[in-house]
Amino acid sequence: MKLVIAGKGGSGKTSISGTMARLLARSGRRVLAIDGDSNPNLALTLGIPIERMNDLPTLSRDLLRRTADGQELTRTLAEVCESHSLTGPDGVSLLVMAHPQHAGTG
Ligand SMILES: Nc1ncnc2c1ncn2[C@@H]1O[C@H](COP(=O)(O)OP(=O)(O)OP(=O)(O)O)[C@@H](O)[C@H]1O
Ligand SMILES: [Mg+2]
Repeated sequence: MKLVIAGKGGSGKTSISGTMARLLARSGRRVLAIDGDSNPNLALTLGIPIERMNDLPTLSRDLLRRTADGQELTRTLAEVCESHSLTGPDGVSLLVMAHPQHAGTG
């Protein structure tokens, strides 16, 4: 099962996503949560201390390769999770697409 949650700002997307992910993991499912927000905060909802985010490498462009049929991962999903994910107290694995460390110039 794949679920994508998008919508209006401040409407509860992160709260609902994190809660659903935790409940599914507690019921024994393997859950991979992907935070696509440019200001990511799903970790907190999953029960992962924000300090641990600092150890998390951002997903880099070279993880994707263009092919005639579209794009594909250059490594297996398991390998990407091994090097780039954090695990919360209920067993949810978290990948963060963008993790700005500081503001830059425009
Ligand atoms: N069911 C709810 N009842 C009351 N408050 C809620 C509920 N769900 C979320 N909130 C509160 O509403 C605020 C926005 O929630 P949340 O961060 O989950 O929204 P979001 O859609 O992810 O926001 P953003 O667009 O900024 O990422 C938070 O302060 C959250 O605690
Ligand atoms: Mg949010």
